[in-house]
Amino acid sequence: MDHTTRWIGLSLGADICWPICFEEILRRLDLDIVHAGERLTVDVERVTIEPFALDKPVKYDVVIDRLTHWYHTSREWIKKAVVLNDVYVFNNPWAIQAMEKHTSYCAMMRLGMPVPDTWMLPPKAYVATDDLKPTLQRYARLFDLGQIGQQLGYPMFMKPYDGGAWRGVSKIADERTLRDKYEESGTLVMHLQKAVDPFDSFVRCIGLGPQTLLVDYDPAAPLHDRYRPKTGFLPADQQQHLRDITLTINAFFGWDFNSCESLRQAGRWYPIDFANACPDSQVTSLHYHFPWLIKANLRWAIFNAVVRRGVRHMPDWQPFFEVADDPDRTFEDKLADYVALAHQRFETERFEAFCAEHLGHLDEVAYDFFGTERCRDAVRQKVEVLFPAHETADFTELFYGRIQSWRAAEGRPR
Ligand SMILES: Nc1ncnc2c1ncn2[C@@H]1O[C@H](COP(=O)(O)OP(=O)(O)O)[C@@H](O)[C@H]1O
Ligand SMILES: [Mg+2]
Repeated sequence: MDHTTRWIGLSLGADICWPICFEEILRRLDLDIVHAGERLTVDVERVTIEPFALDKPVKYDVVIDRLTHWYHTSREWIKKAVVLNDVYVFNNPWAIQAMEKHTSYCAMMRLGMPVPDTWMLPPKAYVATDDLKPTLQRYARLFDLGQIGQQLGYPMFMKPYDGGAWRGVSKIADERTLRDKYEESGTLVMHLQKAVDPFDSFVRCIGLGPQTLLVDYDPAAPLHDRYRPKTGFLPADQQQHLRDITLTINAFFGWDFNSCESLRQAGRWYPIDFANACPDSQVTSLHYHFPWLIKANLRWAIFNAVVRRGVRHMPDWQPFFEVADDPDRTFEDKLADYVALAHQRFETERFEAFCAEHLGHLDEVAYDFFGTERCRDAVRQKVEVLFPAHETADFTELFYGRIQSWRAAEGRPR
C-alpha cells in the first residue's frame, strides 16, 4: 500500500522553542499508521504568509494556530481553509474573534460557576467617529464611579473585558485609585472585578483537547518561576473539579487549547481567567511542564490529522443550557453532565484508543529527545531573545535543567 501524507501546518508568529521540539519529535516518531484503508504518515510544515486565491487548495489537514488573534490575513486564510477545504484548526478563529473573556464570564455564570462579581464600564475616552457625539449625548448616562466601587467592594481588579497578557490590569484598593485608573484607561473597555483576596492557591489548568494539566502558579514570582514544578499538589477531588470546569468551558466555546486560571478562597475555587486562546507555550515560562505540552499538542494534532473527524466550528450551547437551567439540580450534579458533553465533543474515548494504538512510542521518543543537544539548542534560541547576552548561558542551563528534572521524575518509559 502506498503512503499518503497527512499534513500539520504550524501558523506561527514569534514562537521559537516549542515548534522546534514539536517538529523534531514528530519526525522521530516516524509514523506509519493504517487508518480506514489508507497507509498514512504525518508531516509538519510552517504556514507562510502570502496572497492567496480563495479557491486555492490547502495541503494541511490540521493547522495549529498561534498567530491569528492579532494577524488577520492568516486568520482569514484559516477561515477559508475551514469553510472551503475542511481543515481542522485549533483554536477555532471564530470563537476567538467573537468570544472574549467577557463572554466566558457570562457563560460560566450561566453554567453556575462562581465568577467574582464583575461590572463593565463604558470607556473613558473614544476614537472620534461621525456618530459618536449624538450617540453619547442621547444615550450615555452619567454615572458615579465611587458608587460602583462601593457596591462592588475593595480590593478589586480593573482589566480589559477582552484582556490577555496582563495588559492594562490593575489592582485597586480604594476609591481614589479607582478614579485615577479609570482616568488612565483611555479607550479600553474595562471590567471591574471583585478581587479574590486573600487566596491560598492559584492554579492554571492547561487544556489541550481532552488532556489537562494542573499547574501551581505564583503570579507574584518573576516570569521564569511563576509555574511551579511540583505536581499532585491538590487533593484528588479538587483536581477533578478544576479539570472538569476547564473541559466544560473549552468544549462550550470550541477552544481546543486554553489555559484556565482559578483562585481558591476558603475551600472554594473562583474562576478568574478562562479565555486564553493562545496560551503560553514557551519553555522560558513552562520549563518543567514544557514536555507535557509538546506531547499533548502532538497527540491532539496527529489524532485530528489522521482521523479527520468532522467538527462543528459553531459550537451549540443549547445542550449546556438545558443542563444549566434545571433548578432542581446541584452544581456538582450539572458539572458531571457538562463534562460528559465535553468528552463527547472532544471524542475522548476515540482519542485515547487512537493514542494507545498508534502513539505508544511517543513517551519514549519524547523522553530521549528532551535529553538531546537539539533540545538544549531550542531552549537556548528562546532564551537568547528574552534575556540579556550575559545571562543566556545561565538561563539556558536553568530551563534545560528543569526539563532534565522532569525526565528524572518520569524515568525512561519502556
Ligand atoms: N478577581 C481577581 N482576584 C484576584 N486576582 C486577580 C483577579 N483578576 C485578576 N487577578 C490577577 O491579575 C492577573 C491578570 O488578570 P487576568 O484576568 O488573568 O488577565 P489576563 O487575561 O491579562 O491574564 C491574574 O493572573 C491575577 O494574578
Ligand atoms: Mg490571566
